[in-house]
Amino acid sequence: TQTEALAQIEAISDFRSLEDARVGILGKQGSLTKLSAGMRDVAKEDKAEIGQLLNAARQTITASLDAKKEALQSEADAKALEGIDLTLPGRSVHHGSLHPLTIIRHEAIGILRRMGFALADGPEIEDEFHCFDALNTPEDHPARNEKDTFYFDSGKLLRTHTSSVQIRTMEGGKPPVRIIAPGSAYRRDEIDATHLSVFNQLEGLYVDADVSLGDLKGTLEYFLQEMFGSETEVRFRPHFFPFTEPSFEIDVKLHAKGQAPKWIEVAGCGMVDPDVFDSVNGNRKDEAYSPAGVTGFAFGMGLDRLAMIRWGIKDIRLLIENDTRFLKQFA
Ligand code: PHE
Repeated sequence: TQTEALAQIEAISDFRSLEDARVGILGKQGSLTKLSAGMRDVAKEDKAEIGQLLNAARQTITASLDAKKEALQSEADAKALEGIDLTLPGRSVHHGSLHPLTIIRHEAIGILRRMGFALADGPEIEDEFHCFDALNTPEDHPARNEKDTFYFDSGKLLRTHTSSVQIRTMEGGKPPVRIIAPGSAYRRDEIDATHLSVFNQLEGLYVDADVSLGDLKGTLEYFLQEMFGSETEVRFRPHFFPFTEPSFEIDVKLHAKGQAPKWIEVAGCGMVDPDVFDSVNGNRKDEAYSPAGVTGFAFGMGLDRLAMIRWGIKDIRLLIENDTRFLKQFA
């Protein structure tokens, strides 16, 4: 009967028995379903009345099952929260942070990309042609020394600068070329506070029909002022590189607290030496980079140096030691 069914539902205290009860009463073989099947044998004049009674019973029982289900759910919810102080502040989640070099690299790439430079790259294991010969670096140049450069038995080497990417880019495409190539470079330096055997450079190359020294100065001055602030003073100091003529080293003026301002070198640069175009043409077997038709500028800067300047980092080794006490300051 309905009263029995409602009492049964009332006594239930878990979801499982509730579902069993629902099936037992309303399911295909359920008691109420069976009663409804008996309608067949009911006398015609009683059918309407009994049918109504059965429908009402189904509705009442369904409502009772739903109510029980809701009650069980709130009970379960309350239990899950028992002993938990909802007013406590949340636990902080530990999160990582970007490495200072990554931050600087992203920034540098962002500034230069906005000026129209596209990303390029080349292998870290290079041959002498791309690292030295094509860059107009003579056989007896000190940079080619076994004391300064890591050579493999094969005669290949770990690139000593990213300038090799200049050559690979010009071999692979025609002018105009406007690329930057961030990447590792390797030198057999004595390791100390300012030298590691691997460091991070960012190479730039712009070659077109009419690229001038003014373009070079404007580009790098703008870059460094974006990097270090619009007031940053930038100085171009004449220098020598085998692959640029004229060549310069670029300094920025640093104003450290409690110290006299001083100039710090951040990059090398210059106008691409026509000899470099000639060796590229020789390898390409065309005159795409005819020194009569194109000029260009190139620059290479140390990203480690930029990071050290930005944050006043005194020892370059901090950049590779992965000491979290150091790294978490950049979060
Ligand atoms: N390759 C030079 C270095 O490693 C930097 C440089 C790049 C200079 C491009 C001029 C032009 O010191």
